[in-house]
Amino acid sequence: MEEKILQAAEETEEKARDTKPGEEEKKEPEERAEEKEQESSPETTAPGNGEEKEQEPQAAGHTEEEKEKNEGVQNEDALPAQQKSEPEGEEILRMKDICKDYDMGNEVLHVLKNVSLTVRRGEFLAILGPSGSGKSTLMNIIGCLDVPTSGDYWLDGRHIADEDETSLARIRSREIGFVFQSFNLLQRQNAFENVELPLIYANVPEKERRDRVDEVLARVGLSDKRENMPNQLSGGQQQRVAIARAIANRPAILLADEPTGALDQHTGAQVMELFHELNEEGNTIIMITHDPKIASHAKRIVRILDGEISEGALEDA
Ligand SMILES: Nc1ncnc2c1ncn2[C@@H]1O[C@H](COP(=O)(O)OP(=O)(O)OP(=O)(O)O)[C@@H](O)[C@H]1O
Ligand SMILES: [Mg+2]
Repeated sequence: MEEKILQAAEETEEKARDTKPGEEEKKEPEERAEEKEQESSPETTAPGNGEEKEQEPQAAGHTEEEKEKNEGVQNEDALPAQQKSEPEGEEILRMKDICKDYDMGNEVLHVLKNVSLTVRRGEFLAILGPSGSGKSTLMNIIGCLDVPTSGDYWLDGRHIADEDETSLARIRSREIGFVFQSFNLLQRQNAFENVELPLIYANVPEKERRDRVDEVLARVGLSDKRENMPNQLSGGQQQRVAIARAIANRPAILLADEPTGALDQHTGAQVMELFHELNEEGNTIIMITHDPKIASHAKRIVRILDGEISEGALEDA
């Protein structure tokens, strides 16, 4: 059973690498870019094409009506959290007793231990913990890049364990915007093209795609750098391109793993300022970090230590 779960996890990760450019955290950008160039056009290889899209409204609990309700169009209770006092926002993520074990042969490593967590639309949450505490493992499960050994996970009303691979790929590309420590931009594509790629994958028509890329590049203050290749951008600018890419699809959650880890303090603070603004505009953000200073930018902090989470003020850490 364990093997099967691990195998499924590997396949899930593989698929993620194949299907979404923002998710290759374990690959060097160059390596990924080379692969990219060997691939045929995204239109033919990417998920989210054709029939898949047709099926979407039928997904459990996701009729158009519900979608509108989720987006706060019809139901006052579902107003974006920034318009209300925070704990009342609509629930967007729920984990219940999530465990992640690794069978190391002679022993079983319990990396996540009964993690239960609820996140509401419009929250800005930091998950704070030291190296090896299980942060990336938890992020991979939140981002549907990996599966838990046991426990339940609901994302935007879907019970993730019930979703098939196709559906998971779609959830990854549409519900989650990933931001990684190492930016993970495709090195042979310019800023505009990097941001455009997930929209191509999601089948957004060309005109709308261009408008949206322009809009998000303007949003992160990089309209004048749209033609620049990643190596013609500073670290902070590259991360802002990565953030533009992550929000281009208007995901339910912006998920960031050590987003300032590769930046100096000043540039990191600018990225945090951008996160603040994006959160004020209604984006739900989950940020993972080992740095209490960075975590203090979030509105809510959950600490993780040795695979167990606890909630509380920074001073208690
Ligand atoms: N595939 C795996 N097989 C076995 N053990 C693993 C695997 N992935 C992670 N671990 C172990 O799980 C624990 C948590 O790892 P994780 O990468 O989640 O930590 P982290 O909090 O993200 O650390 P860091 O801040 O250094 O990135 C570590 O002890 C790690 O060795
Ligand atoms: Mg990590």
